[in-house]
Amino acid sequence: MVTVPPFSMLILGIETSCDETGVALYCTERGLLAEALHSQVDLHAVYGGVVPEIASRDHVRMLLPLIQRVMDEAAIEKPDAIAYTAGPGLVGALMVGGGMANGLGLAWDCPVIPVHHMEGHLLAPMLEDEPPAYPFLALLVSGGHSMLIRVRSLGDYRVLGTTLDDAVGEAFDKTAKLLGLGYPGGPALAKLAETGDETAYDFPRPMVNKPTMDFSFSGLKTAVMLEVRKAETEGRLEESRADLAASFQRAAVDTLVAKSIRAARAEGLERIVVAGGVGANKLLRKEIADRFDGEVYYPRLAFCTDNGAMIAVAGALRLADAATAGQIRARARWSLESLGIPGR
Ligand code: KG4
Ligand code: ZN
Repeated sequence: MVTVPPFSMLILGIETSCDETGVALYCTERGLLAEALHSQVDLHAVYGGVVPEIASRDHVRMLLPLIQRVMDEAAIEKPDAIAYTAGPGLVGALMVGGGMANGLGLAWDCPVIPVHHMEGHLLAPMLEDEPPAYPFLALLVSGGHSMLIRVRSLGDYRVLGTTLDDAVGEAFDKTAKLLGLGYPGGPALAKLAETGDETAYDFPRPMVNKPTMDFSFSGLKTAVMLEVRKAETEGRLEESRADLAASFQRAAVDTLVAKSIRAARAEGLERIVVAGGVGANKLLRKEIADRFDGEVYYPRLAFCTDNGAMIAVAGALRLADAATAGQIRARARWSLESLGIPGR
């Protein structure tokens, strides 16, 4: 068993907000000790999207075995605290993680830390060898959110811009569906785009010339839909799919990059952090690094999409918010700005 020195803390992280069961053990001194992830993608694929009840039931099935696995791997008997995703997300799915965290917290007599899922994404780059220093601009792009956030310090967040309609991940998923790709569509669309010509279609870069830092992706999605219908009518959809995917991806990435760089400059920030599922997009990672004259940080690919490690590290940074186990918190909606500095 690992002996935990008095100054180091061992945090068990639990993520169950949507369709991935993620578990990890993070040590404040030694870093990430073990992590395990179970994706429910196959279960939901036949329905073309996440079915909340199926998600909850699968979290129930997988969570304890995954916790056991990381504990065995790290040779740990019990952690010092348990961090769990308390929102935003599917309430039933959140309740599974929250119930487990609080149950284990009572059994092990250790505190629990409710973590904001998007703060988990935002702090995922802290798991890397060269984490970003504060302040920075965060581009948080996932299936449910597209946000530009000014991060002054841990918990000091100001949302500069957000999506007015579809989140960018959602736009990737819906466009992928139009192109006949499976769920979740983002990674499949990005793969298909590799073989296409990104200049084949001149899709709109939504709101890129407006001063607002908000995003809107429904117009882009509609523009793709119209071209898909046209290609279908003309009997050339099959040969046009890769070009449509590449042109869509280019328009979405151009928008995200232009807005992020503009926001960073306007706020006088020299660092940009890209996080969340769409942060796994290779074109986005490359373009923002090429076009921004400051420093760009992102988590490793595996920690862009949902995982337990980001919840464990966020919990470690929010130890001051630890509470006695016994009260499950689960919130479908939860403002990131309302979090505040830990311990306050
Ligand atoms: O952060 P995440 O795992 O879950 C949420 O919190 O929503 O993000 C999932 C989203 C999905 O919309 C998925 O299609 C998208 O991230 N995504 C990608 C890529 N990998 C995942 N979108 C574009 N390119 C990718 N490589
Ligand atoms: Zn997420």
